[in-house]
Amino acid sequence: MTSDAGGASVDIEFRSVTKRFGDLTAVNQVSFQVLQGEFLSLLGPSGCGKTTSLRMIAGFEQPDEGQILIGGVDSIGTPPYRRDVNTVFQQYALFPHMTILDNVAYGLKQKRVAKSERYARAREALELVRLTGREKHRPSMLSGGQQQRVALARALVNRPRVLLLDEPLGALDLKLRKEMQIELTRIQQQVGITFIYVTHDQGEALAMSDRIAVMSDGVVEQLDTPAEIYDRPRTAFVADFIGEMNFLEGDVTHAEDGEFDLDTRSGIVVRGRGEATKGRPARVGIRPARLHVVTGSVDGATNTAHAVVETKMYLGDEVQIVAELKGGTRFVIREQRAGTDDLHDAIRPGEPITIQWEPTAPVLLADAPAPNEGGNDD
Ligand SMILES: Nc1ncnc2c1ncn2[C@@H]1O[C@H](COP(=O)(O)OP(=O)(O)OP(=O)(O)O)[C@@H](O)[C@H]1O
Ligand SMILES: [Mg+2]
Repeated sequence: MTSDAGGASVDIEFRSVTKRFGDLTAVNQVSFQVLQGEFLSLLGPSGCGKTTSLRMIAGFEQPDEGQILIGGVDSIGTPPYRRDVNTVFQQYALFPHMTILDNVAYGLKQKRVAKSERYARAREALELVRLTGREKHRPSMLSGGQQQRVALARALVNRPRVLLLDEPLGALDLKLRKEMQIELTRIQQQVGITFIYVTHDQGEALAMSDRIAVMSDGVVEQLDTPAEIYDRPRTAFVADFIGEMNFLEGDVTHAEDGEFDLDTRSGIVVRGRGEATKGRPARVGIRPARLHVVTGSVDGATNTAHAVVETKMYLGDEVQIVAELKGGTRFVIREQRAGTDDLHDAIRPGEPITIQWEPTAPVLLADAPAPNEGGNDD
């Protein structure tokens, strides 16, 4: 077993892994480590290479380049059934003619585990997923969520080093999904097995993961904790994929002591925190909830934008305003309603407003616009 710099054991490691299907590069020079006991999500839009990455860990696909280490050992040449990993799919395909208990014990039977032990372990796994009492039932007698739990028990019963889960909740309705998210987190903490969890649902990844690898077009754009990914996305893609983000771009006119000023070409001066380079183009993102609105046209030297209201919507506790800045950039603002209804009543489509924010709100993004051409805010 290998260790990372911090001393934690590494269960899975990708070293410059590339996978091609004909002309298409599904996974492109990807490197990352998954630590023992970690809940790591692979998150990204359809076709970005999540399932392909998982299938390579499981051994159903081989990388064209690079290495995948399982427990510190290069997995090349090791067939799927000899890898210390198990997969749970969205389509869980239980055996319909077998009881729940036999479904869960099946893998152990294949491995020739003695009958008394395999039933004892299957019962233990069913207890873990809270299905004690349903041992004798057939899969068709269970709900979708319960069937998914049987599939989970069937994988856990093997006590793998790593559990691979490919959109396991994709077939469930929203309410059941939410319940199963909590269940899965509880089970993972209880058994301490490393989970690699594939999803394209950003809320799910944020809620469940220790760390998230955000993928786009076969590459990992950022691998970080949910809080870091949300508060400090490195690229516009990550910022936009993880919740809503407003963007501004321009030139850095001042950069000192971890503060910067960014002049947009439409006359807004963004003051923010971060290491920018004076004289270079840059892009910032600001979350809708970090913006505040006042009616009318109020002057301010920095972090102030004048706009015209397009729409206003009440979203329960929040009010959402969409407004167009001078130059055509559209901003989404979301404010808490508590105590501010008078203000929000006064905000109407077609009326001028002033949008303001704190210097801690703008996030400096690593992918700067090209010099003198990235002006969609003017
Ligand atoms: N067996 C295959 N043959 C050819 N192309 C493939 C094969 N498997 C995957 N691909 C292609 O590789 C790319 C990545 O596919 P992959 O299934 O890993 O995406 P994904 O991130 O899991 O997407 P989704 O969220 O839709 O499941 C896609 O463009 C897909 O069409
Ligand atoms: Mg997939």
